[in-house]
Amino acid sequence: MDKTYNNNFKSVRPVALDGRKGVYIETYGCQMNVNDSEVILSILEKEGFALCGEMEKAGLVIINTCAIRDNAEQRIWGRLDVFRQMKARHPLVVCVVGCMAERLKDELLKHKAVDIVAGPDSYRKLPALLRSMTEEDGRKQIDVMLSSEETYADISPVRMDKNGVSAFISIMRGCNNVCSYCVVPYTRGIERSRDPETIIREARELIECGYKEINLLGQNVDSYLWKGQETVNFASLLRKTAEISPDTRIRFSTSHPKDISDEVLYTMARYDNICKHIHLPVQSGSSRMLELMRRKYDRDWYLERIRKIREIMPDCSVTTDVIAGFCTETEEDHRETLSLMEEVRFDGAFMFQYSERPGTLAARRYKDDVPPETKTSRLNEIIALQNRISLENNQKEIGKHFRVLVEGHSKRDKDFLSGRASNNKMCVFPSKGQRPGEYAEVRITGCTSATLIAENI
Ligand code: SAH
Ligand code: SF4
Ligand code: F3S
Repeated sequence: MDKTYNNNFKSVRPVALDGRKGVYIETYGCQMNVNDSEVILSILEKEGFALCGEMEKAGLVIINTCAIRDNAEQRIWGRLDVFRQMKARHPLVVCVVGCMAERLKDELLKHKAVDIVAGPDSYRKLPALLRSMTEEDGRKQIDVMLSSEETYADISPVRMDKNGVSAFISIMRGCNNVCSYCVVPYTRGIERSRDPETIIREARELIECGYKEINLLGQNVDSYLWKGQETVNFASLLRKTAEISPDTRIRFSTSHPKDISDEVLYTMARYDNICKHIHLPVQSGSSRMLELMRRKYDRDWYLERIRKIREIMPDCSVTTDVIAGFCTETEEDHRETLSLMEEVRFDGAFMFQYSERPGTLAARRYKDDVPPETKTSRLNEIIALQNRISLENNQKEIGKHFRVLVEGHSKRDKDFLSGRASNNKMCVFPSKGQRPGEYAEVRITGCTSATLIAENI
């Protein structure tokens, strides 16, 4: 059902890639995109490409884009202008992939710098698109067909992280929710779960290569469901991955408050190597806003889920996402978000101003009527509150002992190492020569709102 179609735009400078098979990849957006870039590299390596750290030396540039908010897209347009200037000096094929490619399609192809546009389900087509472009004298190429089946299950992503400690595994693609503000269902298509056997195989491969932490990724991991000979839900997938090796940590994101089940919580509690951290985006503390957002839960439901998490795992950290200034949000709605944050006391949060996305339900039905300066002031209030709570929560960790998975040297000081505790908090402590991938036992001695300072024990 997938189909490649051409159009009549021509590249600024048609180039043949022969003999110049370096690929430079730039990735924006979420962890799914990071993992997709690794899938793309795997596909291109089979075609003889090699990853190249410097754009100037590459013949092919891949820019993997995000469409979640307008400012994410503005950054990409800025980069495309830079690529256009580079192309004037240096032959380069520029390929735009990812969510913005899917959202804007031909509109992106009109940019002078862009040669190829490929959506999130079209990455297997990249070699063919490159070939067609060369054969057709530099004609621009596009493939943005979404698929109901593609999970790239048979492709082993080529890991691009430097330290070889932590790796992503996508367990599903797409999203079947229709949160009214969100563009993801339009850019990534319908939800499909990946064959668990291929997930477990990939996890084993990673562990054999020395990886110590596996991040299971999906837009809504709690709705993972595979119906094969055996039915596998997210809790059973967690169990299967945790049982591969007790020395390997398992993390996952993102959970959805309406779907996270007690079975998942009990599974987390049962296995020491499943990290005690849940990212549970709340978006708003106002039930009226949650209804307009089509989140399918209300404030009380969310608080009840938090209560359950803490009953089953008292030490589990919880982080969240918050949107400030969604359509019709009043000062009172905003106060409810602040009061929910005070009540839950999140360990961290990603906080955003609402950005209207064309084509979404909110864009079609509601007015983006909160003035920009009100969005900004509400967001600032939310950030200030979260910083205070993060700091207070971190202060409560002082004196505690944690097992930290060493990720590498601290950015600020080479004599210090950094790594995360099971609860996902970043710890910085003096190096005793431990290497990335080793566990360190530490005691917390101090903190900022973002980091725990520790000593070896
Ligand atoms: N699937 C995940 C999140 C995906 S997007 C989930 O459902 O939780 C990551 C975050 O971006 C969202 O949780 C939301 O807080 C934010 N976001 C999504 N669309 C947005 C928009 N139009 N404006 C501002 N923030 C948005
Ligand atoms: Fe977007 Fe909602 Fe799906 Fe998350 S669950 S990706 S916010 S539609
Ligand atoms: Fe991720 Fe951005 Fe797409 S957050 S799913 S890359 S829109």
